Amino acid sequence: MCGIVGYIGKREAYPIILEGLKRLEYRGYDSAGIALYDGNSIQLSKTKGKVVDLENRVNNEIETTGSLGIGHTRWATHGVPNDINSHPHYSNSGDLVIIHNGIIENYASIKKELIKRGYTFSSETDTEVLINLIEDVKKNEQVKLGKAVQIALNQVVGAYAIAVFDKNKPDEIVVAKLGSPLAIGVGENEFFIASDATPFLEYTKKAIYLEDEEMAIVRLKKGVKIRKIKNDALVDPYIQELQLNLEQIVKGGYEHFMLKEIHEQPNAIKDTYRGRLNANKGQVRMAGIDDNLEKFLNANRIIVIACGTSWHAGLVSEYIFEDLARIPVEVEYASEFRYRNPVITENDVVIAISQSGETADTLAAIKLAKSKGAFVFGVCNVVGSSIARETHAGAYTHAGPEIGVASTKAFTTQITVLTLIALKLAKEKGTLSHSEFHLHLQELELIPDKVQKALQSDAHIKVVAETYKDAKNCLYLGRGFNFPVALEGALKLKEISYIHAEGYPAAEMKHGPIALIDEQMPVFVIATKKGHYDKVVSNIQEIKSRKGKIIGIVTEGDTEVKNLADHVIEVPETLELLTPLLTTIPLQLLSYHIAVMLDKNVDQPRNLAKSVTVE
Ligand code: F6R
Repeated sequence: MCGIVGYIGKREAYPIILEGLKRLEYRGYDSAGIALYDGNSIQLSKTKGKVVDLENRVNNEIETTGSLGIGHTRWATHGVPNDINSHPHYSNSGDLVIIHNGIIENYASIKKELIKRGYTFSSETDTEVLINLIEDVKKNEQVKLGKAVQIALNQVVGAYAIAVFDKNKPDEIVVAKLGSPLAIGVGENEFFIASDATPFLEYTKKAIYLEDEEMAIVRLKKGVKIRKIKNDALVDPYIQELQLNLEQIVKGGYEHFMLKEIHEQPNAIKDTYRGRLNANKGQVRMAGIDDNLEKFLNANRIIVIACGTSWHAGLVSEYIFEDLARIPVEVEYASEFRYRNPVITENDVVIAISQSGETADTLAAIKLAKSKGAFVFGVCNVVGSSIARETHAGAYTHAGPEIGVASTKAFTTQITVLTLIALKLAKEKGTLSHSEFHLHLQELELIPDKVQKALQSDAHIKVVAETYKDAKNCLYLGRGFNFPVALEGALKLKEISYIHAEGYPAAEMKHGPIALIDEQMPVFVIATKKGHYDKVVSNIQEIKSRKGKIIGIVTEGDTEVKNLADHVIEVPETLELLTPLLTTIPLQLLSYHIAVMLDKNVDQPRNLAKSVTVE
């Protein structure tokens, strides 16, 4: 969490950093700050609140000159979000300035030592401790900034992406990474530093992604020098050509990123299967699977690890893998898996799912699985992300940047990738007949058009949203492949509208949650024609007889649920195991409209961040 940006070059740093922070605001938005250096004096301004609050403050508070600068947008870990805890932080002498994304776990003991040596602290942050540790090393060891950063980082435990500059070195920024992402944009006589490449896309398409435990000294004239933090070994910079475009990271006429991303799903799903799925030839080709087919075919079981929405996609895949490929699957919260001494063997295949590719718990779970000899396969959206690099092989979702904090297109594209893998394995294992295999490929190819059709119910969904926007609690029910969609629908509602919502397998309702049902309780029931339809209809009757309000997500043309429900929202018909790709669409739109009607910040819900790089 937290976004960091830096610039050193010939241009004015301020507009570059400000715009960069706006693009990185999805990573955290509790507070923001900036430090600019023109070679004479450092101008620093920071504030609780969003980047626009920072902009207003800067306009009244500081000069915005200087072609070296660093900026930060924060998701608070140590210390409440307030002006003082915001980054950047000065060292005691006022010579060094730092921004930091991550957590220094042993900061308390270091702080104690530094206090004994006379250092004082104005904030409650671990970051202010780190910059004073660097200052202390620099003074005591009589070394330059880069060396001092290296020595200090060898004393800390935790995670970080940092950028530091020294008032006495106006042509240099020192950066380092462990656990949190850090990219360096390489321009003509100018360099950019950022948590991802979006802040510098219009300036350069050349980027270096630091690996864990690497640091770089970025000098205006001498360029980028990368070293290993532990053993000081020099590393050859690997400069990548970015594929990302500026158009992909703007709202493009939509009111919110979330709405844009919901509407992008037809194309995103197409992009996910493009080049992989060929229904005419009856082929699924995925390099990551083709190259490791034996591992998958010989696997005792598949263990899926993920968090949040990605975990829900994993849960859908459990049903799909078991149904199509007859491979036992376990789906684990990465945060639980990593701490409970799980039984993993070399015959297990672990699939790690992550949109951002940076989720700390998922990353740690991957490392644990690898250490126990499992083969780990990544399903990520962000190309070159830490999880993509840490896994043995993988498949990207190719959904394009997802900026709205609530995940939408990541979910449907993850399910698409996982379905392709299951189909491929089913074909290889012979667990699906030739004709069924073909049918699944053809149906999957039709999904983007059907998603488009589901999106056309938007106006009707808005009416439903208006009806239930003032509810205090909601239930979401689904069975089989659509049980995880119920969980996902509830998550979408609670995270952006702050309405309490629970997802349940429909049949579990009678084991407890049915006690909640009265005339105030909206119950969203996924009741598509296939998939235990009759059983779900019985569940609907149970709700109706207790006066609950029923909103059915049904197959086009359904009449039975329509007769029972207060509202229905139709989705096109498809194969049962592909229904989650359609039933999730109205639930996303519903949450979106309710949140807008309640005047909530849809793209940046309170307390959340897009990329959870702390455990
Ligand atoms: C919910 C949401 C989160 C993420 C979770 C995992 O809308 O976005 O629950 O799904 O933080 O993130 P990734 O997929 O980046 O690992």
